[in-house]
Amino acid sequence: MENNRGTFGSNLGFILAAVGSAVGLGNIWGFPYKMGLNGGFAFLLVYLVLAIFVGLAVMVGELAIGRKTGMSPVAAYRKLSKKFTWMGYMAVIVPFLILCFYFVLGGMVMRYALSYLTAIFGWNTWGVEDVTTFFGTFILNGGQMILWTAIFIVINAFIVAAGVAGGIEKFCKIGMPALFVMLLVVIIYVAVQPGAMDGYKFMFGWNLEPLKTDFLGVLKAAAGQMFFSLSLGMGAIITYGSYLQKKENVQKNAVIIIVCDTLVAIMAGMIVMPACAAFLDGAYGGGPGLLFASMQQVFHNMGYIGNIMGFLFYTLVFIAAISSSMSLLEVITSFKVDQNVAEGKAPGRKKYAIIAAVIIFIFCLPTCLDGLGNGLANGAAIGTPAEILNIDVKGWNCDWLDFYDMLSEGIMMPLGAMVMTFMIGWIWKLDMVVEECEVSGHKFWGKTFFDICYKFITPIGMAFVLYAQVLTFFG
Ligand code: TRP
Repeated sequence: MENNRGTFGSNLGFILAAVGSAVGLGNIWGFPYKMGLNGGFAFLLVYLVLAIFVGLAVMVGELAIGRKTGMSPVAAYRKLSKKFTWMGYMAVIVPFLILCFYFVLGGMVMRYALSYLTAIFGWNTWGVEDVTTFFGTFILNGGQMILWTAIFIVINAFIVAAGVAGGIEKFCKIGMPALFVMLLVVIIYVAVQPGAMDGYKFMFGWNLEPLKTDFLGVLKAAAGQMFFSLSLGMGAIITYGSYLQKKENVQKNAVIIIVCDTLVAIMAGMIVMPACAAFLDGAYGGGPGLLFASMQQVFHNMGYIGNIMGFLFYTLVFIAAISSSMSLLEVITSFKVDQNVAEGKAPGRKKYAIIAAVIIFIFCLPTCLDGLGNGLANGAAIGTPAEILNIDVKGWNCDWLDFYDMLSEGIMMPLGAMVMTFMIGWIWKLDMVVEECEVSGHKFWGKTFFDICYKFITPIGMAFVLYAQVLTFFG
């Protein structure tokens, strides 16, 4: 059975594929902008605490469940307990919701990369030169947004339809180290700019004031970000675990994935925060546009060389984005493919990859058309969810992007993590995880720590997060 499904060729291949999925727009786009909106250092601190006390336990738990059952989420949860099959279904719905905005962002990144490419050759009709208006004009141009989203989706569907088996490993082997080097180059460039220091102070200077004014707000932002960035709280890591060889060390792999992912997020922060300090008078709270609008300022200030740097930077963001979005589309496609195979039908991979892509494209349209929250008043083609439903919301940006984001990373991922860790802590017991991890012959470390995480810290922490979400929504 397991041999038929295949396993990763090498442990390095596994790590690269998992890191390729984890490192994406969440790290380079989401992390800096959420840190900017939620008090800098306070956000970073809460994020790190959550990664250690929640992320590690959930990561080990998901890998263990996946490898133990040898199945993807729906079948895995059904096998463990019939009553929890719905958790498996949530693992298909969440990637769907994420892609309803991830594809749009991927398209935008592609447009930026190509704009800089044309600028290198002095063909500036795309307006990279006018950095003050480029972003604002682009996001209000519904036709452009739809066009680039569609192109990005076609590329994704193409890869997934063809099967990612050999490609993803090669792709990540070159793309990930290249991304790392490029991040370093831009970090150094930003670091020597006058005024950059304030950005580091914002990010690393001890300041817990934001926690006193809005603890729950920071907590829920950091928690959502952590799940999203680590690809946790749903099925992705269970699926990866199901392909992991029995001889590999689960705990060690979990630590490596978390460290790599967190490192890239912090590196992205070390570009964007000091850049905001140096070029935007410390305007850290730019929200979802931060990666686009403020980074464009940075490249603009480099002069001609900025065109080349900008092209390289957005190309690498594109690589990070597509290695993640493929994995999301793959979760949805393989759900149907697995089902067909189980029923003795033809897998139909191509067909379902295309059907999924088309349906998601339709759900991407509102995200493309509301001008990222500009709303009707500012010239967008359609209203935000808040405008359409005529509700007054305060705690989120209330555009379509944020709406999909809140449902997935805000509610479903913490819910999934809460239920899973509660089950491990109290029903299935830690022994299940320990046993699975020790199959490889490596001794399980930190039993007490993990037990406390599963029994108390994660479920209770996640209950707080969900409470904070409900408050924002109805409060
Ligand atoms: N972690 C990716 C990012 O940071 C997004 C992602 C890929 C994801 N696969 C996932 C999120 C599965 C949740 C679940 O961009």
